[in-house]
Amino acid sequence: MSSDFPELTNDRVLRLCRGEEVDRTPIWIMRQAGRYLSEFREYRKKHEFFEICRNPEHACEVTMQPLRRFDLDASIIFSDIMVIPQAMEMECVMVPGKGPTFTSPLDAPEDLDKINLSPDVNKVLQYVYDAITLTRKTIGGKQPLFGFVGAPWTLMAYMVEGGGSKTYSKAKKWLYQFPEASEKLLDALTNVCIDFLVGQARAGAQVLQVFESHADALSPELFHKFTLKLLKKIATQVKAKLGKDAPPVSIFCKGGHFMNKEFVDSEYDIIQVDWTISREQILELKSKVVQGNLDPCQLYAPKEEIQKAAREMLKKFEGVRHIANLGHGIYPDTDPEHLRTYIDTVHEETQKTQA
Ligand code: CP3
Repeated sequence: MSSDFPELTNDRVLRLCRGEEVDRTPIWIMRQAGRYLSEFREYRKKHEFFEICRNPEHACEVTMQPLRRFDLDASIIFSDIMVIPQAMEMECVMVPGKGPTFTSPLDAPEDLDKINLSPDVNKVLQYVYDAITLTRKTIGGKQPLFGFVGAPWTLMAYMVEGGGSKTYSKAKKWLYQFPEASEKLLDALTNVCIDFLVGQARAGAQVLQVFESHADALSPELFHKFTLKLLKKIATQVKAKLGKDAPPVSIFCKGGHFMNKEFVDSEYDIIQVDWTISREQILELKSKVVQGNLDPCQLYAPKEEIQKAAREMLKKFEGVRHIANLGHGIYPDTDPEHLRTYIDTVHEETQKTQA
């Protein structure tokens, strides 16, 4: 299958994962396709969010938009973490100004009987695979393509809350009040994540990322009791199922400082970190590739400040195999030219001149 794809000419991200030298620090941006780009906003006027996700030509087009503008070293397939709850037969719509919203969130354990805990993702989410295959061919080897999933706890949090939340108190209530039902749901989500990541890799994804975006809601006790073993299982099983063809796998626990070092001893190849961690904490992760971590709000500053901040960030990662990125997704009101300054500064500062 993979022989049908164009040869990868920019392999910096993959080289880092293999422990090989790179000529400059690679960079890509979480949510690099999105509303901060006028061409995306134009596209969205004509097409509903999940319509774009479900149509491979549309998903490919919006994935390509940031690649046409910027000198990026990786791409990420346009999709959303909510495609898994949808595959489990929960209705989720994108409400402008509010974000993803579930029409019937999970209220009590009995509600688990109303959803499909073991969907055939290879059938229901085939459209994501088709989007990946088409996009990888369209990129033509100029960048590797990331596939991704939302991690089980993050997905559960949305499925119970019905959307975003400041406290995640409803979802955490499940962990304290219904631990068995919570485990049942988290286990089911874990299995779906594994199958879906394996399918994405087979469809052409060259790196896989697991987004635990609501890690910050968990105490160390809850993290250890409910999610760490599942996150580790995802990487282990994906690698075992794919064997020698397994791509590198990345984990992002947003706001979960104490969690990052738990993945040093795991099958994950890349640990994505947010902007709140120190150089000391980054150095603890040194045996892995570390990805991150400029504060997305830093891009609101004047360009000279962005250049300075980019240099300071690079210093924090000195001696570490580093993929530059933001510490979370780029905000919709960011000036794309400020992003360009960040990307170009990372390249200029780290470019090794040929001897
Ligand atoms: O370029 C890319 O990064 C690829 C596409 C991508 C999107 N969502 C597109 C998107 C990826 C990787 C995601 C992942 C995702 N989705 C996460 C994990 C990463 C993170 O940010 O923590 C999460 C938590 C979601 C759920 C989600 N989807 C939220 C909370 C929102 C609302 C955001 C907002 O500011 O309104 C979305 C919507 C969404 N996903 C948009 C895009 C481009 C914007 C919605 C729109 O166009 O109307």
